Amino acid sequence: MKNLIAGNWKLNPTNQKEAKEIFDEIKAGIKNATAEVVVCPPFVYLALRSFSEGGFALGAQNLFWEEKGAFTGEISGAMLKDIGAEYVIIGHSERRKYFSETDEIINQKIKKALDAGLKIIFCVGETEEEKTGGKREEVLQRQIQEGLKDVLDIDNINVAYEPVWAIGTGNNCSVEETKESIEFIRKFVKKDTRVLYGGSVKSENSGVYIKEAGSNGLLVGGASLDGKEFIKIIQSAE
Ligand code: 13P
Repeated sequence: MKNLIAGNWKLNPTNQKEAKEIFDEIKAGIKNATAEVVVCPPFVYLALRSFSEGGFALGAQNLFWEEKGAFTGEISGAMLKDIGAEYVIIGHSERRKYFSETDEIINQKIKKALDAGLKIIFCVGETEEEKTGGKREEVLQRQIQEGLKDVLDIDNINVAYEPVWAIGTGNNCSVEETKESIEFIRKFVKKDTRVLYGGSVKSENSGVYIKEAGSNGLLVGGASLDGKEFIKIIQSAE
């Protein structure tokens, strides 16, 4: 099983020129990578195939749960697949928080993404409040069980453990805590399901999540916007 290193660009960068620069840096550095690499830019840059072809897969950061119809502003799994995306991130805490995505909505999206033939990076993780309230396992269990409800085939699902308090804060999760959470998550998925870690990953801290915390890869936010830094992270996982 290859490690999976995914970059989530979120709402960045604001123009094609910078997007191309990041794609170019990744393309230039990715040769000989043994991990599977996925880049998840905003929808508009997914369509720029000439920018993005070369040594890595493309992923979207979201999708809608219907394939087509009168849903202004939405993008479907079929469209993503058609344009060349292989992966989609579902259940990210920023979507749960800012777009009120519930476990039920996430479950619908997961089913539709699988129907469309997409592979999934399914994010779960507790907030600071839930962590200090001793609810981490309860939250993880609920998010996984509700998110994967009636999903019979989880072969195309990767789970990303992203503690909300570790995202974008520089306060990355300790190896011990990550290990505990990953082992807990493994109780609810298949033996060969990849479980990733995400939250303030940089090249200085990335290696230990794979070598010591037992994850099968990383979901990288801010640091994936610097192509050279992202390459270093990919290399640290080897
Ligand atoms: P940061 O790496 O910027 O903390 O973001 C993590 C994340 O949310 C990836 O999906």
